[in-house]
Amino acid sequence: MKKVILIGAQGKMGQAALTGLQKHHVITASRSGNGTDYQVDITDKKSLKALFEKVGPFDAVVNTVGYCEYADFTDMTDEQWDATVQSKMIGQINLVKVGLEFINDGGSFTLISGILNVKPIPMAIADATTSGAIDTFVRCVAHELPRSIRINVINPTVLEEAWDVYGDMMPGFQPVPGTLVGKAFERSVDGFITGQVIFVDA
Ligand SMILES: NC(=O)c1ccc[n+]([C@@H]2O[C@H](COP(=O)([O-])OP(=O)(O)OC[C@H]3O[C@@H](n4cnc5c(N)ncnc54)[C@H](OP(=O)(O)O)[C@@H]3O)[C@@H](O)[C@H]2O)c1
Repeated sequence: MKKVILIGAQGKMGQAALTGLQKHHVITASRSGNGTDYQVDITDKKSLKALFEKVGPFDAVVNTVGYCEYADFTDMTDEQWDATVQSKMIGQINLVKVGLEFINDGGSFTLISGILNVKPIPMAIADATTSGAIDTFVRCVAHELPRSIRINVINPTVLEEAWDVYGDMMPGFQPVPGTLVGKAFERSVDGFITGQVIFVDA
């Protein structure tokens, strides 16, 4: 059994990840802290450090947080770009940077991206761009991590559980069940792979 910190646990992707982490001791966190063990804001390095200090030694971090703004490229404001970059891109990168100081030898990080960087749709340029950045970050930073620490990213298509929210934006896409995406998180945490973008698509 591993001690796993799951960030964004109450969200749709967090609930999908949880299905793949059943055999572990899972400690949950989110921005509001509602229904989770701890409160954390991934856009704030001090908040991330405080979380890791409070939890104590752990074996894995699974992050399912990455806030995105949706608009056509010509309409995207600086504020919308900044909000997306600070959460889905810099927030996840900082989570690894800060978490490295606290994670056990042989531990793992699992981040979140999303299929829109390889299957673009209208209004999703910020999600697609930051997802692509995180896929690249994971592939490359894996070579630099010390102490046999691993890193992977889950790049899923839309969840069945989120189809009511995103379905209208995604004609021609086939949603997948959260339990299938949970298997991808399980492969990342329990396997020996590193530097992988684990796609889950129908
Ligand atoms: N849903 C899908 O079908 C799908 C498919 C592929 C990829 N993704 C990606 O998965 C990620 C999560 O999507 P989701 O559908 O799970 O969203 P969601 O249901 O809205 O959940 C978001 C979660 O993130 C937490 N959160 C937001 N900002 C935070 C911050 N700054 N610090 C800490 N926690 C924060 C929220 O906590 P509070 O509620 O406490 O604020 C909530 O638990 C997104 O990047 C999305 O692009 C989603």
